[in-house]
Amino acid sequence: MTANILVFDSGVGGLSVTDHLVQQLPNAHLFYLMDRAFFPYGQLADEVLQERVVTLCQQATLAWHIDLIVIACNTASTLVLPSLRQRLQIPVVGVVPAVKVAAQLAQGQAIGVLATPATVQRPYLDQLIKDHAGASPVHRLGSAELVQWAEQWVYQQQAATALPELLGPWIERCQLRHVVLGCTHFPLLTSQLQQHFPEVRWIDSGAAIARRVSSLLPANSQTQVDAASVTIGWAGDAPDQTALQHFLTPWQRPLAWHAIEQ
Ligand code: DGL
Repeated sequence: MTANILVFDSGVGGLSVTDHLVQQLPNAHLFYLMDRAFFPYGQLADEVLQERVVTLCQQATLAWHIDLIVIACNTASTLVLPSLRQRLQIPVVGVVPAVKVAAQLAQGQAIGVLATPATVQRPYLDQLIKDHAGASPVHRLGSAELVQWAEQWVYQQQAATALPELLGPWIERCQLRHVVLGCTHFPLLTSQLQQHFPEVRWIDSGAAIARRVSSLLPANSQTQVDAASVTIGWAGDAPDQTALQHFLTPWQRPLAWHAIEQ
């Protein structure tokens, strides 16, 4: 049976993870849900976010007969995974900052964690750093701007020209050569980040998440050759479908669009 996979985020950020899922899972039905009504998550109170994510994921799981959920949002994953797993009977894969990978690469040198203002303050991140950073000092930067710039890049192809002003002083002061992109919106800006900071290695979790999802699916769900699709769903205002095409067309999947009631 072909698996129905829900990929969830506040906005377009989770598309950076979906990109890897499309490559890794040629036969899955992918349902991408963006919560445009409560975007941005990085500035939301914890209790509001907690309730919201659980409610929407339950609703989407029923509507689309979902077999597995990917919370393609670090801000949500670092808070709501325990309650989601308690309330849903299907596997839930979270996306959290790739501190472990960065520490392996940095070999004791400094690591930067670039994430939303909410994620950089989470006890979950404190624990990740304690468990996995080893000898590397970790410097955190919370940015709400980068989330907006990633949305503008995807919908309007508007370049994030203020990246050097925002990140340059931090990278220089902390002598960063390894930076974790701890928000799924940020890998959408990787080519621009590389252009402005060629000396920095930008690390995200997308490929690892796709491998993890693949390992959780039954083998027979990955062998059918003719079943694959992408459904783009949303809560709140409808996204600009024409503007998203340039991102979605290269996936070469049959596309559907679907509003989720709230
Ligand atoms: N893409 C999300 C993350 O990974 C959240 C961005 C936001 O809505 O603030 O954290």
